[in-house]
Amino acid sequence: MKTQVAIIGAGPSGLLLGQLLSNAGIDNVIVERQSPEYVLGRIRAGVLEQGMVDLLREAGVAERLDREGLVHDGFELAFNGRCEHIDLKGLTGGKSVTVYGQTEVTRDLMQARQANGGITLYGVGDVKPQDMDSDQPYLTFTHQGQPVRLDCDYIAGCDGFHGVSRQSIPTHKLKEFERVYPFGWLGILADTPPVNDELIYANHPRGFALCSMRSATRTRYYLQVGADERVEDWSDQRFWDELKTRLPEAVAQRLVTGPSIEKSIAPLRSFVVEPMQYGRLFLLGDAAHIVPPTGAKGLNLAASDVNTLYRILLKVYREGRPEAIEQYSAICLRRIWKAERFSWWMTSMLHRFPDTDDFSRRMQETELDYFVSSEAGRRTIAENYVGLPYEDVS
Ligand code: APR
Ligand code: PHB
Repeated sequence: MKTQVAIIGAGPSGLLLGQLLSNAGIDNVIVERQSPEYVLGRIRAGVLEQGMVDLLREAGVAERLDREGLVHDGFELAFNGRCEHIDLKGLTGGKSVTVYGQTEVTRDLMQARQANGGITLYGVGDVKPQDMDSDQPYLTFTHQGQPVRLDCDYIAGCDGFHGVSRQSIPTHKLKEFERVYPFGWLGILADTPPVNDELIYANHPRGFALCSMRSATRTRYYLQVGADERVEDWSDQRFWDELKTRLPEAVAQRLVTGPSIEKSIAPLRSFVVEPMQYGRLFLLGDAAHIVPPTGAKGLNLAASDVNTLYRILLKVYREGRPEAIEQYSAICLRRIWKAERFSWWMTSMLHRFPDTDDFSRRMQETELDYFVSSEAGRRTIAENYVGLPYEDVS
């Protein structure tokens, strides 16, 4: 088999890159370890920056997003008995975010790929990127029990944090940066009306809580829990009781509860690998970086990596400029580190840490008070939350 760009992984990164390339007439094949149903069964984040919405529109996959996505012009920060509104739109000259589940983004991308006849091989085994440091790289894998060799010009590693792409780069060529937080997020999905029009991020002495949503009738709530907690120990009743305790009283009073339709615990981690490229192999999305979910940046960073690689590949194929690939890692990392900083800062400000003493607690409250009391502070939060600009490629 032969293609121009071989893409490993059919999550949002791989599918979005594939869609943009196919629209531009650049041939690509996606290979995915799991089945389509498995990929769609994963419940992930749901806040899209304007830049990602624009990219999905450019890719021609935003019809349902434009119809069903909930545009949010602000969010609430609750701490110390206060509930402070961050006016994203007013503070950023008109920018906002769109609430639309990652599962739905993935579903729309899968349908578009099926419609345009793009090849995605699901259920492949033992994928191995080969000869990435030559100008004739290829992938080997098994498909339906048969060994396959896929020759290509470039390989896009869109295979998430546990994927094979990053692991196939010689370790002495990479530097990893990591912080693992001493807690996780317990999330539930329920068919209940949202407690508030906007998201609420709450700092409480018992730990962080987040009120989010997927639609006017479906909610997503999270609680900070200990790193060693088990989901079996959290009945729906226990979850709702604890959530009510951590929310401002007026909000807790109007919370509508109901049976959960999904419940899971996710660890919190910050991770970056440098560089994000080895020869003709590029790393995108979770394969190269992880952020804690507190700033809603994970999916959005995947989109900005895709944007950068797509524009670079346009230079390569349309302008005959293969050297354009050398910019990839540096452009991506500048934006990634800023989102890493914001996610780490939001996490640090809003969670209860095991070693938080009275002094640290006052510092956290004062930091929040300082930021929301100053126009500059609010603007800093808002411009990061709506997403920093995408950098041009040259
Ligand atoms: N071979 C083939 N496919 C693989 C392999 C492999 N060895 N390893 C992993 N995959 C597939 C996974 O099954 C998955 O479908 O790669 C895909 C990676 O998808 P995601 O983990 O969703 O990563 P990505 O596409 O980068 O999505 C961005 O940002 O913060 C997050 O929640 C956000 O998941 C989202 C991510
Ligand atoms: C979500 O809706 O799942 C969500 C929203 C905001 C976040 C994280 C997750 O910061």
